[in-house]
Amino acid sequence: MSTKGTILVTGGTGYIGSHTTVELIQAGYKVVSLDNLSNSNINVLDGIEAITGTRPVFYQVDCNDESAIEEIFTNHPDIQGVIHFAASKAVGESVQKPLLYYRNNLLSLIVLLEAMQRHGTTGIVFSSSCTVYGQPEVLPVTEDAPVQEALSPYGNTKQINEEILRDVVYAGVPYKVIRLRYFNPIGAHPSALIGELPLGVPQNLIPYLTQTAAGIRQELSVFGDDYDTPDGSCIRDYINVVDLARAHVLAVDRILDEAKKSPALETFNIGTGRGVSVLELIRTFEEVTGVPVPHKIVGRREGDIEQVWADPSLANNVLGWQARESLADTLRSAWAWQVRLKEQQK
Ligand code: WQD
Repeated sequence: MSTKGTILVTGGTGYIGSHTTVELIQAGYKVVSLDNLSNSNINVLDGIEAITGTRPVFYQVDCNDESAIEEIFTNHPDIQGVIHFAASKAVGESVQKPLLYYRNNLLSLIVLLEAMQRHGTTGIVFSSSCTVYGQPEVLPVTEDAPVQEALSPYGNTKQINEEILRDVVYAGVPYKVIRLRYFNPIGAHPSALIGELPLGVPQNLIPYLTQTAAGIRQELSVFGDDYDTPDGSCIRDYINVVDLARAHVLAVDRILDEAKKSPALETFNIGTGRGVSVLELIRTFEEVTGVPVPHKIVGRREGDIEQVWADPSLANNVLGWQARESLADTLRSAWAWQVRLKEQQK
């Protein structure tokens, strides 16, 4: 029996949306989930149910569909808050198809915010990204670091979405907004019942790495080892996806708890605070799994920044959130998920 209230999760069958749904249910929330299934699979709901014993209410809906969104809020007047994950998120694709990204990622937030206002739902947690910082001048990067010009339409939609949220709060509409700036989410639920499901050739490092380790890909290309870093490869802050999901539960707790009298607009970096290079990540994966990852150094990838990692102290101190999972356990979870995926595809 849910005790904490009802949360609408958009992009609920996606990688982070599914893991967050599990944590919300286990924290006592009821979840209404929606997804257009353009980049995820409906049987993710089976995994969520297997882990939690609860199947969220699900709608196959596009966030841009105003009448469908209106119907969901009408059907569920108990929705007290929204976590908005649904968006197109492939950096490279956004360069090729900018209008698809601006339409999808901006209109979906606007449709959602208008529906929330009509129905008196004030709390929203927004899935943002460290990509808004570009290449920070100072590391680790704090929330007051300057937002730099986006390197891709995808990154620009994240920046514009953050500004839309800021402006509606400043306009005096009684929203409570928390913007979570993720660093690099990796890994899978320890049950290996849900995880990252990249469609086609993975763009992100970890799914390509685990597919290479599984023999699905022949060799991992390391995009450059001539950067100004200790081993020459790029550095990122890799955050366990379950740790990231837990940050969303704390954010929802915060916006729903009126006693906290939290500011109407807050922004938090969700990262471990530790930078790891590509070559270090490969080496760590091989050490913890015993599985070799054939790889070669190739040229730099267009648009990559050299190095970024978070200063997570605001999330630690204000949200009460800590990254708990080790890199070793996170890589083990990614591998366990890949092994299970491969077994399923036999
Ligand atoms: C990580 C590092 C690559 C693949 C992007 C978005 C961010 C978020 C996460 C959506 C880089 C290197 C990668 C490969 C490699 N996306 N790499 N070989 O680019 O840091 O972040 O994805 O929410 O917003 O910007 O993540 O995993 O693509 O790359 O060497 O086959 O791995 O050069 O240094 P990135 P990534």
